Amino acid sequence: MTDMPALARSMETVPRSRIRELAEVAMSMDGVLRLYFGESNQPTPDYIKQAAISAMANGYTFYTENAGLPSLRRALADQYRKLQGVELDPDSEIVITASGVQALNVSLRTMLDPGDEALVLTPAWPNGASIIAMANATALQIPQPLCGDRYRVDFDALEAATGPRTKLLLYTSPSNPLGWVASEAEQQQLLDFCRARGLWLVADEVYDRLYYGGPLGEPVPSILRKATRDDAVVVIHSFSKSYCMTGWRVGYLIARRDLGRQATELNEFIISHAPSFAQKAAETALARGEEELIRMVGRLKENRDFCLSALDGMPGVTVPKPDGAFYLFPKIDGLSDSFAFCRRLLEETRVGLAPGVAFGAGGEGSVRICYAADRSILEPAMERLGKFLTAN
Ligand SMILES: Cc1ncc(COP(=O)(O)O)c(C=O)c1O
Repeated sequence: MTDMPALARSMETVPRSRIRELAEVAMSMDGVLRLYFGESNQPTPDYIKQAAISAMANGYTFYTENAGLPSLRRALADQYRKLQGVELDPDSEIVITASGVQALNVSLRTMLDPGDEALVLTPAWPNGASIIAMANATALQIPQPLCGDRYRVDFDALEAATGPRTKLLLYTSPSNPLGWVASEAEQQQLLDFCRARGLWLVADEVYDRLYYGGPLGEPVPSILRKATRDDAVVVIHSFSKSYCMTGWRVGYLIARRDLGRQATELNEFIISHAPSFAQKAAETALARGEEELIRMVGRLKENRDFCLSALDGMPGVTVPKPDGAFYLFPKIDGLSDSFAFCRRLLEETRVGLAPGVAFGAGGEGSVRICYAADRSILEPAMERLGKFLTAN
């Protein structure tokens, strides 16, 4: 008898998501205060839902271009001009994807050959490193040290890790899970570092609108303000976080023209394009979403401050004040198994947090709290976490 076919050996190198692992335990339980996933508990605003319904009624049920609807790409170029002062060519430099994670996937696939290496600033959302593994390449995780009350980029460690097979550097600003926002000086240094070594710079800016460092609604200044359109820079984006559209699966990438062209072609073989009516709804989100977005950022900032002051009184907890995204990443003194900690916290208090170990090098010893939830969830969650820490 011939052997049964086995799964590809390369699959063994793709790590499982430990956030999912915790979530699967939580989902089998009732009454859990769920703060482990990276999404707001607010539903998509009605005007966006209505736009999708109208789009379906108006015939947006067919295939679109692989790069996405030209009207959506034009709207994004207009928004970039307005918010970032950056000129983009919607025909060649913007590619619509079916989510931010797909933008990351097609981008990384266009840069990596099997056996290549990629530098990844961590702790980070684990999908970047897993996508690198799916491309049969190796993610070299470079932890961001906490210096005083701010995370930094360890350029010496980046330098030491760079070798002949290194192709790219991936960073996330605002960061998931740190909430760190790269300063302009750090952006410039990251760009110079990559320029000097012939590396691609991949900037995940999906949280750019969730920024508390300026007037509400002002985005984090994009790396594209510093880079030229001929630089080897790719920016990853999504509609998920700014417009409460996680389930819709619409994102985009902005890239040098050659990468944009290649990513467009890869789109065909992965998912071809984002759903037609969801792209149309995304266009409406851009056109009409500002007021709601500003309100949401205001609420998130209040939530951040509420959770920070609650954590301030808890024993053994260190947490810097983040400038962006919707996460806190408190470090807990003496914690060496964050997964076991989160599991016990879940089972004993029904509070669901994400274990720091899920976010790669530098993450162990911390937990991630997503504060994009109502106060009716955050208040009891903070109270129970405080009691748990005091008792343990
Ligand atoms: C840093 C980061 N990048 C990208 C994404 C992808 O978002 P989506 O695939 O929903 O667009 C996420 C989602 O959590 C994220 O945290």
